[in-house]
Amino acid sequence: MSKVLVTGGAGYIGSHTALALMETGYEVVVYDNLSTGRAEAVLPPARLVVGDLADTEQLDRLLAQEKFQAIFHFAGSIVVPESVENPLLYYQNNTNNTTELIRLAVHHAIPHFIFSSTAAVYGMPDTPCVTEKSPTNPINPYGRTKLISEWVLQDTAVAHNNFSFVILRYFNVAGADPLGRIGQSTPNATHLIKVASQAALKRRSALHIFGTDYDTPDGTCIRDYIHVTDLAKAHVLSLQYLEQGHASNIFNCGYGHGYSVREIIRAVQKVSQVDFPVIESPRRAGDPPVLVSDPTLIGQTMHWQGEHDDIHEIALSAYKWEMRL
Ligand code: UD1
Repeated sequence: MSKVLVTGGAGYIGSHTALALMETGYEVVVYDNLSTGRAEAVLPPARLVVGDLADTEQLDRLLAQEKFQAIFHFAGSIVVPESVENPLLYYQNNTNNTTELIRLAVHHAIPHFIFSSTAAVYGMPDTPCVTEKSPTNPINPYGRTKLISEWVLQDTAVAHNNFSFVILRYFNVAGADPLGRIGQSTPNATHLIKVASQAALKRRSALHIFGTDYDTPDGTCIRDYIHVTDLAKAHVLSLQYLEQGHASNIFNCGYGHGYSVREIIRAVQKVSQVDFPVIESPRRAGDPPVLVSDPTLIGQTMHWQGEHDDIHEIALSAYKWEMRL
């Protein structure tokens, strides 16, 4: 059974991926500082090592003691407006820490690296659907810190023959484990579907729509919402792809169609059967109007297919999880 390290595995996407890896037969060790993740999200038999990514000495010892076949790197900061206000935190947590982790992976001869990147690297695309070949032009510090990390990985793989990577560019991840074991538990999360679920549960007085004057059919931003369980599956396939000896690659992770903020609100209101109040508010900093994936490459190359591509299923699983919290 090969052993893998999952940084940020107590967090939202990391915990769902750790579960998918275990269900496929991998031995999982999670490394997480529990700043936004929760120990309860690390389900047995995965082991949790509590530690900070900036603590390179602890990481170095861990990588020396255990023989990992791959690193899945989720740990990082992900809130776009926060990255605009505090860019140095993002360059430290995302770019610097990732560079150190890649250096340690090479030093300890860990052959495979699967990296959580983001559709934010595309910035404001001028095509309705972006492919992996679309120009990268991030418009906020968050996207830039992730793009720089992508470059570090690409340059490292050129220089080191025995090191290969998959970069997954996530679109808007939402929903929760269909069996209700884990979900999005991050305190103060800003994700639209989570915030809407909280409004439906009266944990927020209202939901604010950030901008109603965009050049889109209903004036609100359009995003490609992908179920977290389908995204977790993409990670497992990425490792198998590298284990089969395929070349390093970059894949978009989305379904290829988008929903507006208003459509998402209607979906959450429908599944929760609660007409929570909605307030039309000014635009938020750093939001592109439309961001939708072209998922052709991941489908053709890794035979990935979305099994939960249904906005009501996504909204219902998120809402049910929010109810449990
Ligand atoms: C999300 C991710 C980001 C990822 C990006 C890729 C989060 C916090 N951010 O960004 O890491 O790189 O996808 O595309 O998950 N909105 C409202 N009201 C709210 C919350 C959101 O109107 O209370 C709107 C936003 O302005 C945006 C849309 O809903 O237009 C989605 O927002 P959000 O869920 O925060 O995700 P992104 O910012 O798209």
